[in-house]
Amino acid sequence: MKVRSQVAIVGAGPAGLLLSHLLHLQGVESIVLESRTREEVEQTVRAGVLEQGTVDLLLQTGVGERLIREGSVHHGICLRFSGETHRIDLRGLTGGKSVTLYAQHEVLKDLIRARLAVGGQILFGVEQLRLEGLDTLRPQVRFRLGDLPCTIDADFIGGCDGSQGGCRGFVPPALLPSCERVYPFGWFGILVEAPPSSSELIYASHERGFALVSTRSPTLQRLYFQCDPNDKVSNWSDDRIWNELRQRLATRDGWSPKEGPITHKVIVGMRSVVTEPMQYGRLFLAGDAAHVVPPTGAKGLNLAVADVRVLAAAMSDFYRNGRSDALEGYSATALERIWKATRFSWWMTSLLHCFPGGDQFQRRVQLAELEYVTQSRAASTSMAENYVGLPMASYEVAMSGHALSGTGAPRRRPSAEDHAAARTGTDSGDD
Ligand code: FAD
Ligand code: PHB
Repeated sequence: MKVRSQVAIVGAGPAGLLLSHLLHLQGVESIVLESRTREEVEQTVRAGVLEQGTVDLLLQTGVGERLIREGSVHHGICLRFSGETHRIDLRGLTGGKSVTLYAQHEVLKDLIRARLAVGGQILFGVEQLRLEGLDTLRPQVRFRLGDLPCTIDADFIGGCDGSQGGCRGFVPPALLPSCERVYPFGWFGILVEAPPSSSELIYASHERGFALVSTRSPTLQRLYFQCDPNDKVSNWSDDRIWNELRQRLATRDGWSPKEGPITHKVIVGMRSVVTEPMQYGRLFLAGDAAHVVPPTGAKGLNLAVADVRVLAAAMSDFYRNGRSDALEGYSATALERIWKATRFSWWMTSLLHCFPGGDQFQRRVQLAELEYVTQSRAASTSMAENYVGLPMASYEVAMSGHALSGTGAPRRRPSAEDHAAARTGTDSGDD
């Protein structure tokens, strides 16, 4: 099977699906290729915190209806240390912004449904995916769908295949260099059938290690605690988990989490990675495929959303106006905000976790900083504005005033001159 599409997108995570959705709203066609099954994609438990800008974008583009109905808006978060709880008033400190708790896989269900409802193509279960001709004007994606060998001829490829994806592997490594920091701890995450322990998230810094109380619904809770990244889930019985959480989350006035059956256990590693630039020829990386942050700042999914918002606007500008400057500037535009979120995630991680081998000096400095952050309005404002999400150019501005909804076709197909102007690699002469 050989087909043609303006954009081929690898990965049906938040980055890939939202890119496809935003492109569709601008009249640009895409095909999304995903190695997992739809059921796997819709059931994998990951993020939960959506920034204000992410929520606004999903709402503005017609995929936020269930999120508004079922998500829970949080106007503050709590920092807990030395047995005391200190609230950061997100709304009051940011001029009215908040975050919404709504599971990543629910966002994905909403996006998949929206794409399929308008005839969007998502191919699940693709295998042996290969990228070719990335430095030409007509790159190709080759893959197998069952026994069927398939090829997509595209103008652009969206590399949205996450931190373990293979798109980057088709680029000479020296042309997509990355910066990395691996943290010497991981997170043990659990899902618990119980009512919420707290109406707001609790980030706890304790001598035994970090702990986090989050939520998914009135009956399902998400908790995490710092662990050895090489530990095994099987080493942790439910009793041992609750014992650890009770100690790390204890307050002077006897607070303890509401317990219940644990239905899911996972250990995740923690690292920061930024690939710079995020483009090679006609391949544009977005989301975790280009950068990874430790989950402490709740930024990964939100960064993926911010990336594809810039990328969709740039691709739309190319098809509507034959202009390639926004595409050429994609990497630099996205990276400016990515580095700020990378800094914030690193800072939250360093502030709240115990570092193996850390001494009394390090702990005292952490506690002094926690006191400063919770007592100084300037410091808590800085934390709050990063947590709810730094500003993005509004979607309308990014889209240069183009309609936000509808399927209006591009005004014209790009000409050979447009392609030449947009050339970012070697011309294969096959356009
Ligand atoms: P992914 O979600 O990884 O999607 C990539 C997709 O590509 C996958 O479906 C994969 O199967 C597919 N794929 C890979 N290789 C191929 C291939 N060769 N062919 C075809 N398909 C392929 N972020 C937040 O913003 N807020 C939070 O609260 C938050 N909490 C988190 C908690 C945890 C425990 C973890 C682990 C992460 C958390 N994150 C959070 C981060 C967030 O989950 C990720 O940043 C987000 O999933 C990135 O989306 P993505 O689309 O870039 O990549
Ligand atoms: C989550 O609910 O999964 C969650 C919340 C806050 C974080 C990370 C993850 O910082």
